[in-house]
Amino acid sequence: MTRFSASQPPQPADHHPASEQPGFDLTRIRADFPILGQTVQGRPLVYLDNAATTQKPRAVIDTLRQVYEEDYANVHRGVHTLSQRCTERFEGARDKVRRFLNARHSHEIVFVRGATEAINLVAQSYGRSRVGTGDEILITAMEHHSNIVPWQMLCEQTGAVLKVVPIDRRGELRMEAFAALLSDRTRLVSVTHMSNALGTINPVEEIIPLAHARGVPVLVDGAQAAPHMAVDVQALDCDFYALSGHKLYGPSGIGVLYGKEALLKAMPPYQGGGDMIRRVTFEKTEYNVLPYKFEAGTPNIADAIAFGAALDYLDSIGLDNIAAHEQRLLDYATRRALHIPGLELVGTAARKGAILSFTLGRIHPHDVGTILDHLGIAIRAGHHCAMPVMEFFGVPATARASFGLYNTFEEVDALLDGLRQVIEIFG
Ligand code: ALA
Repeated sequence: MTRFSASQPPQPADHHPASEQPGFDLTRIRADFPILGQTVQGRPLVYLDNAATTQKPRAVIDTLRQVYEEDYANVHRGVHTLSQRCTERFEGARDKVRRFLNARHSHEIVFVRGATEAINLVAQSYGRSRVGTGDEILITAMEHHSNIVPWQMLCEQTGAVLKVVPIDRRGELRMEAFAALLSDRTRLVSVTHMSNALGTINPVEEIIPLAHARGVPVLVDGAQAAPHMAVDVQALDCDFYALSGHKLYGPSGIGVLYGKEALLKAMPPYQGGGDMIRRVTFEKTEYNVLPYKFEAGTPNIADAIAFGAALDYLDSIGLDNIAAHEQRLLDYATRRALHIPGLELVGTAARKGAILSFTLGRIHPHDVGTILDHLGIAIRAGHHCAMPVMEFFGVPATARASFGLYNTFEEVDALLDGLRQVIEIFG
């Protein structure tokens, strides 16, 4: 952990950045999110738990209602008008995801429940068919449980071995160790693009070519990164990319696995059922084409369409604008955190997304979170589904403020003022 001194007086640079960000109308953006207008515990809501889930713009809420009120029917099955209309919208959403990720084909976009299911799909389909005893899966020490446990399950099933790239005290990957751990037995690298517990943005653009030089495919867990930066899967040349809709201002229960066509084609289905077949007899079943081979059962139709609306919304603002705004918020919050006595940042990587994870002296993060809630401020306190990260830093939990596109500098002030009150209460 990096300990910051509390003795420094506030500097002029700690005042709000004077200039508005051109092309980024925060007042208008906030008005798009109905939930943000409320008070909590008698105070204006300050929502800083965006790494856990994001709030939804009216465009998403309206789309959900409109689908159910006007267009809803089952997809891919009906000759009737509603079914055809709904299928068009559902497949339209798939194409929006393709554009968002700059994938080559929309059949490389598989709808799943979220990033967790995307990773499980790869572990069970790709992993069970390609990984054997003594083979290795390479992950990192900063993974979310959803990028650890599916691989442990695969290792139990196949006799493969899980290898873990260590991190340093700033929360950065030790790249020399990554290169050394890539071996002739490595069958897959699975790495987070951005850590939910630390904010670290990993150098996937270095990791992927290193793995490919040894013929090893790479899965990138983009659940945290995708809301904060433009992602281009063709430029990255990643083999798989996992997304969650609910972290991208879309509904929960919908997410995406991007996979390169050749890999997805060669992989066996993950689940059996309707829609993933072309022909079934009791003797033999012929599987459907991509992406339907991986979409057994009636999909999450309305949420997929509303996810498409969320991507349109992000597109209308621009991921680069969002990234710039959040980086200013993070820089400002980090500078101001310097002046909070006892505050220690957990995660001080040079490249970070909009996450401020910290401990506050001996005050338990749950107490920090509870007192902040009384001030109307929502943060997350806990292990953030990344227990090995907590263990590495020698803490049971951290308090975590995570910023989204609608957060303001005044909200950062409210957080920091709230932390001073927490300290006062605990003496
Ligand atoms: N993975 C989510 C988080 O970081 C839930 O809070």
